[in-house]
Amino acid sequence: MAILINNLEHSGARAICGRYDNRPDALLEILRETQEAERYLNNEALVTIAGALNISRADIHGVVSFYPDYQREAPAGHVVKICMAEACQAVGCEALAAEAEAKFGAKIDGVKSSDGQIGLEAVYCLGNCALGPSVMIDGVLYGRVTPDRLHALLRERSAGEV
Ligand code: FES
Repeated sequence: MAILINNLEHSGARAICGRYDNRPDALLEILRETQEAERYLNNEALVTIAGALNISRADIHGVVSFYPDYQREAPAGHVVKICMAEACQAVGCEALAAEAEAKFGAKIDGVKSSDGQIGLEAVYCLGNCALGPSVMIDGVLYGRVTPDRLHALLRERSAGEV
C-alpha cells in the first residue's frame, strides 16, 4: 500500500482541480485527467487533489484502490497487452506470452523488464479474434503476432522514439 506524504504539491493536479472548481463530485474526472497527463497517479498528485477538494486522503486512496484503471506506479515505457482469451489461445497466445516473458525478463501482470521499458499484461479479447494471436502495444492493435514479430514491433517503436 502506498503512503501519502504530507506537504506535497503538484501543480498539474492543482490546475486540473481548478478547472472543476475543486468540486469533490468531480473526483473521478480529476483523477482520470491527472493520470492521462502524468501516466500514473503519484503521491504528490493525490495529496494535492485531496487538499484541493477538501476530502480525506483515506477517501481518495479508497477510490484509487477500487478502480483498477487508476495506476499508482509509473508504467513501463511500452505496455504490451497480450490477449489470452479462447480464440487467441487456439492460435498460440500462451506460447507467445511465455516467450515474451523469457525474452524481456518481465512477468505478465507483474514485474517490468529490468530497464523498465517493457510491461506485459494479459487481457481477455481485443476484438480481433479472427487475426490472433492479438497484441496491443501502447494502445495500437496488432494481429497474427509471433514472437519474432513482437520483438520487431517493439524495436520499431523504440527506434521511433530516438
Ligand atoms: S480472443 Fe483474442 S482478440 Fe478476441
